[in-house]
Amino acid sequence: MKHYLQFKDFRAEEYAYLFERARLIKRRFKNYERYQPLADRTLAMIFEKASTRTRVSFEAGMYQMGGSVVHLTTGDSQLGRSEPIEDSARVISRMTDLVMIRTFEHTKIEAFAAHSRVPVINGLTNEFHPCQIMADLFTYLEHRAPVGANGYDLGCLKGKVVAWVGDGNNMANTWLQAAETLGFTVHVSTPSGYEVDPKVAGVRSSDCYKVFTDPREACRGADLVTTDVWTSMGYEAENEARRTAFADWCVDAEMMAVARPDALFMHCLPAHRGEEVTAEVIDGPQSVVWDEAENRMHVQKALMEYLLLGRIG
Ligand code: CP
Ligand code: NVA
Repeated sequence: MKHYLQFKDFRAEEYAYLFERARLIKRRFKNYERYQPLADRTLAMIFEKASTRTRVSFEAGMYQMGGSVVHLTTGDSQLGRSEPIEDSARVISRMTDLVMIRTFEHTKIEAFAAHSRVPVINGLTNEFHPCQIMADLFTYLEHRAPVGANGYDLGCLKGKVVAWVGDGNNMANTWLQAAETLGFTVHVSTPSGYEVDPKVAGVRSSDCYKVFTDPREACRGADLVTTDVWTSMGYEAENEARRTAFADWCVDAEMMAVARPDALFMHCLPAHRGEEVTAEVIDGPQSVVWDEAENRMHVQKALMEYLLLGRIG
């Protein structure tokens, strides 16, 4: 049994497989073809933080594949009344086939997984957001990679540069793991005090990223420019201090102009126009944020299929 708690839980070759499955599953969806390999399977979704995309993509995806979902939040379950996470894992995993969790400390999802009888998927923790980066990479490949006999050639990611502008948060940590796993480089620019911590990011070496104090320099020559909210969920008390510290880390047309002419812009959403990105950039021709959001569902359908049924074919 496999869990998907961090991006580095899977090898490059598994991502190549998952992206090909996601491509085929997306094509079926677009053609209104029924594909229900998860009939009679149940996904439990546990949300200790708010969500739009993660909930809709997992819930719609599971129903489309013939399964069903149970939606739990801290407020409407015993999780909010101090039932130990280990006991919750033992109980929930006896009645369902798969569990997706969005929570605070990553140690919580690890504790859940350690006591679960079924695969556990990380739907975002303070430290990581692997499903989002899987969707982001799939979106990049869709826009920039040719399709070969075995699907997208992940070799085309080698040597590519992703510019990360903003907070050294769960998304930044996950980008670093993706770069180390798939052989590209992340140019990271954060305000002082909000740096990425390679120990938290969980990368073995610093070869996969370069740090820049000037966000414009981070964007120079980039194939993809990406950012995220200045204040992640759980850090709301720091909001005012962050607005001041991050004022120069707004992705604007000037930053996009020094990236490669064919650079894409991504944002996991929700976005705040005028804070981490200008409306001109996020609503402009280089932005692929709506494909990126939609692709959450297609890659997660491939992920659920893989965790429950193994490789197809
Ligand atoms: N990107 C993302 O995970 O969005 P939600 O918080 O809406 O799920
Ligand atoms: N870094 C953000 C991502 C939201 C999808 C957060 O953790 O709130």
